[in-house]
Amino acid sequence: MSKEFKRQDGRKPNEMRRPISAKVGVVPNADGSAMYCSGKTIAIAAVYGPKKMHPQHSQNPEKGTLRCTYNMLSFSVADRIRPGPNRRSTEISKITEWALEPVVMLDKYPNRVVDVYIHMIQADAGTRCAGINAAAMALAHAGIPMKNIVSSIAAGKLDKTVVLDLDKYEDSEFKEGEGSTDIPMTFTPDGKLTHIQVDGHISKEQLKEAMNMAREACKEIYEVQKQALKEIKE
Ligand code: CDP
Repeated sequence: MSKEFKRQDGRKPNEMRRPISAKVGVVPNADGSAMYCSGKTIAIAAVYGPKKMHPQHSQNPEKGTLRCTYNMLSFSVADRIRPGPNRRSTEISKITEWALEPVVMLDKYPNRVVDVYIHMIQADAGTRCAGINAAAMALAHAGIPMKNIVSSIAAGKLDKTVVLDLDKYEDSEFKEGEGSTDIPMTFTPDGKLTHIQVDGHISKEQLKEAMNMAREACKEIYEVQKQALKEIKE
């Protein structure tokens, strides 16, 4: 890790954005809900179900279906976003399902569906990770049986340096040297990976370094999620 390397906001390479915070029970009419904030990124997740899957031909008699819908609100970034689903939101919805499915005990709900709606109120990169963190808490709050919750953060590379938790500038505007690589990851509390996406180039050694950084950071995120779940008021 280069000592001279300076990030635009002054963070050390292995430093995540601050503040991080979480709150459970933010959507009273949902069966479970949570908010997760990291720096300027704010995600809200609301869970509805389990309920009977419609249409009937989509029902799976073996196990329930986890259906995630990711949405960035029009005002979440400076350039207004056209409302409605698009290729990016469809991809992130799928990724979110894959990141959560290994811990959600869907075999308890044959023919049923658990809906998770994730809305980005404010977006400054890392939104899929913030959404996954909020969704994991919301599922736990809804009482959906889970082996564990999961925690998510991105790590990556700015030019030649491995860094944690890229912000919007670092993710999309950083053009020096080799540019940037963003790698969102999701871990269980015992350090098992449930999701990873590699966007850009990185060597095997640096990928290992990025994974270790993200795994360590997820331990802290898990504590924040756990604390928020403990603070639920009935
Ligand atoms: O948000 P995340 O890092 O998971 O996904 P991304 O596709 O790499 O997007 C990075 C960031 O670009 C978002 O968090 C937004 O801040 C921004 N963005 C935007 O301004 N307009 C879009 N249509 C999509 C993303």
